[in-house]
Amino acid sequence: MFVNLKKILNMAEEGNYAIPAFNVYNMETCMGVIAAAEELKAPVILQVYPRLFKEEAGYYLSPVIIAAAKKASVPVCFHLDHGPSELEVTRALRYGATGIMLDGSALPFKENIAATRRVVETCDYLGVGVEGELGHVGTVNDDSMDEFTVPEDAKEFVEKTGVTALAVLVGTAHGRYKKPPKLDIERIKDIRKATNNTALVLHGGSGVPDAETKAAVAAGIRKVNIATDVCYAYLDCIAEDIVKPDRAIAVDNFMKRPIEAVKEFALTKIELVGANGKA
Ligand code: 13P
Repeated sequence: MFVNLKKILNMAEEGNYAIPAFNVYNMETCMGVIAAAEELKAPVILQVYPRLFKEEAGYYLSPVIIAAAKKASVPVCFHLDHGPSELEVTRALRYGATGIMLDGSALPFKENIAATRRVVETCDYLGVGVEGELGHVGTVNDDSMDEFTVPEDAKEFVEKTGVTALAVLVGTAHGRYKKPPKLDIERIKDIRKATNNTALVLHGGSGVPDAETKAAVAAGIRKVNIATDVCYAYLDCIAEDIVKPDRAIAVDNFMKRPIEAVKEFALTKIELVGANGKA
């Protein structure tokens, strides 16, 4: 069931849980996530870094995601992750994305609002929901974190842009943490209250302790992004399986175990955010 961001996040809002948003990179990671979603009857978001839309890979991957979404018995949204500008947004829309992120978090506040608003206007015209970001979620290699998202600013941002979802900085970062992060759960509650219960997004979901993720979802996070650990699930399995073959191994057969590894990983995250059984 191919659905858009607004619909899938409404489901999460009504059911008080979060949609797991897995970054996918190729057909196999996509297949692993879909298999897990089907098994647990869970709505999921398959999202793609804008880099892939710049390369030929995006041209081939988009139809794979759409085919998977249409064939699935569970709701699946195809989302652009961290769209840096209207150029990437336009290409993602052309490729069929049903959710768009415009990440203006590195811009000054007013410019972030203006850039996000323009994208919301375009996407509204197509019925596609938009995720904005306020409070820049950096990487685990940054020397320090930016100032956490301020609830009053979030209120103004949501009101002026009309976003469907808002990514917030509350203690996470992208990549593999050197030590487990501690999230500002009270701030998540305050942002929810200030923004009239806007769907909040937690980036940097890989390696967040389970109890922290659960508390964040209970506080109002409605989308949890997971990218790094999808890569590890897939690549660790391949690394284990690579032996110097004395004969050709059919690649489709070789890929069965990595697909299964991504599926097993996705099963745990779907249950963690409470999306199992919600489709
Ligand atoms: P991780 O790579 O840390 O899981 O972050 C994913 C993410 O937030 C994608 O936007």
